[in-house]
Amino acid sequence: MNDKEIKKGIIYVGANDAERRIFDELIELPDGTTYNSYLVSGSEKTALIDSVDPSKKDILLSNLKAAGIKSIDYVVSQHGEQDHSGSIPDVLAAYPMAKVVTNSKCRGELADLLMIKEDKFITIEDGGEISLGDKTLKFFFTPWAHWPETFVTYIPEDRMLFTCDFLGSHYATENLYAQSNDEILIPAKRYYAEIMSPFRSMIRKNLEKIKVLDVDIVAPSHGPLHKGMDFITGYYSQWASDDVKNEVTIAYISMHGSTGKITRYFIESLEKKGMKVHAFNLADADIGDIAMALLDSATAIIGSPMVLAGPHPKAIFIAYLLKALRPKTRFLSVIGSYGWGGKLVEQLAEMLGSLGAEIIEPVLVKGYPKEADFKMLDELAEKIRAKHQELGLS
Ligand code: FEO
Repeated sequence: MNDKEIKKGIIYVGANDAERRIFDELIELPDGTTYNSYLVSGSEKTALIDSVDPSKKDILLSNLKAAGIKSIDYVVSQHGEQDHSGSIPDVLAAYPMAKVVTNSKCRGELADLLMIKEDKFITIEDGGEISLGDKTLKFFFTPWAHWPETFVTYIPEDRMLFTCDFLGSHYATENLYAQSNDEILIPAKRYYAEIMSPFRSMIRKNLEKIKVLDVDIVAPSHGPLHKGMDFITGYYSQWASDDVKNEVTIAYISMHGSTGKITRYFIESLEKKGMKVHAFNLADADIGDIAMALLDSATAIIGSPMVLAGPHPKAIFIAYLLKALRPKTRFLSVIGSYGWGGKLVEQLAEMLGSLGAEIIEPVLVKGYPKEADFKMLDELAEKIRAKHQELGLS
């Protein structure tokens, strides 16, 4: 197991889940994932930082056994979601003297979700610490990365920062570290886009909070560890900023070809005007790819035909997703087609209203697009170009 030694007295005891292809029954996992758990042995006490998904609890317990761990004093639970907390009851059963160290919010979640008894908890405060002897666990609350209770743990003696979901990636690997920054950039971006982007103002505050720490190794609870903090926090700062690019994300669906033709024409028109377009056919799009494109796009467009007097259900899904991801997109619009009428635009506009983006007059086409419709699409593309230009984008 010592090939998994990170620093003297700190070993990786987590589990790889390379075969997993979906998370939350929603997010696709093209690269699988890992559930990282770390055992920290000080001169006097031992702590486990996060556990693993319940499906991999046997691996965690067997890693602890293989490492010769006879007792655990503390199980630090940095986040209540079950992919990190779900095996804590099994760890407590195997190591009955262990106490769960967490904040009051997470304590409530663990009591509700896992029925962990009240007397098993030690509750920490922001900035609090616990000594393991020659190592200290210092806790810093980093809320909304991505639940309200999330916090990070810092060991100053080893300059290690444990961040749970924050700064992580769904990327299965047997290696502790990625072979290069390039290997992990897209998985980390996808992870940020899907999980963290709705909370970017909190992410910015959390980045400020941790940047004062002297960090040699960042140890998230998904994906490889990072040597130093600059690479990953640099990208997080960029993704969480208000900056947008001269880019348009279009998510569309077409049933009989009209909206498909409209979308293809519109993409060409936008590109001719110098904008980069990320187009996704909702028939088979990966929402992680859409979430990543939205990180940079100044404008988002939904393309939909009318179905039963309203948007296609897949267009409703993407509008809901936009609402959930709360991208920094400044402008929104709708393109699509209809046969005899309905409230496609009204329904989507109502869903998207809370995003605070400006809705540019949509283009809805009756039947298959004709010359006058292409002209309206060109006009919409021109309006978007002008709006981008006003923002100084080119
Ligand atoms: Fe990886 Fe929010 O759990």
